[in-house]
Amino acid sequence: MDNRPIGVFDSGLGGLTAVKELEKLLPRESLVYFGDTGRVPYGTRSREAVRRYASQDMAFLMDHGVKAVLAACGTVSSTCADIGQELPVPYFDVIGPSAKAAAARTKNKKVGVIGTSATIHSDAYRQALLGLDYDLEVYSQPCPLFVPLVENAFVSPQDEVTRLVAQRYLGPLREAGVDTLILGCTHYPIISAIIGSVMGQGVALIDSGREAALALSRRLEQDGLLCGSDGPRESSFYVSDEPENFTSVAELFLGHSVQGRTERIDIEDA
Ligand code: DGL
Repeated sequence: MDNRPIGVFDSGLGGLTAVKELEKLLPRESLVYFGDTGRVPYGTRSREAVRRYASQDMAFLMDHGVKAVLAACGTVSSTCADIGQELPVPYFDVIGPSAKAAAARTKNKKVGVIGTSATIHSDAYRQALLGLDYDLEVYSQPCPLFVPLVENAFVSPQDEVTRLVAQRYLGPLREAGVDTLILGCTHYPIISAIIGSVMGQGVALIDSGREAALALSRRLEQDGLLCGSDGPRESSFYVSDEPENFTSVAELFLGHSVQGRTERIDIEDA
């Protein structure tokens, strides 16, 4: 048994899709969340910059005594695949679990992957998918405008701007006939209604934050690292810019208001 909290980080709000799943799967576990809202987006930055940011984010979580770290960020997961080796606690990213879920789900062996520019250019998803099944056909598409749209709450299923952008990005994947689409950026599930309706009913959407949360919860259970307390969950949320926007959009992600205070910290100095 281990009563320490689970640490989750992302460049911003997207990692909350993993938090939402962890809240469902492990209702007694406490969480520490860090959203690097002052430096979002990561997806348009150099590999070196993303690595430096991710190391700082993980150090911040470790200072809060976490028992495991979840990189709930497709960009960190794909561009810094080995970064978890720096840590003395179990580390999870989103690539392996989502690739596995997609390979198991596809029937026609045509899998689409959408993510930030950094994620798609890293080729990490294609390699992970082909490592699982060499017969898969993988179609990738960067969708750089999705993150700012989500961070600015353009997330309603009726939002015309987001729908138009989605039609432009997703058209080639639809034409390729993929039957499974990995939402390789953790921000994207919040606009899954739009993505799903543009792709069409027969296309399965794989939520990378959810798949990573599932893998993490299984591992904690297997390793006897779940908490033993019956007390209420105590979760803390930290951001690196003004908390107001985060708190209001976080409600859309989590389906409830953020309990407790969201604290602003200086990540460069943390
Ligand atoms: N949630 C991050 C990801 O999964 C957002 C990307 C970004 O900051 O550009 O890639």
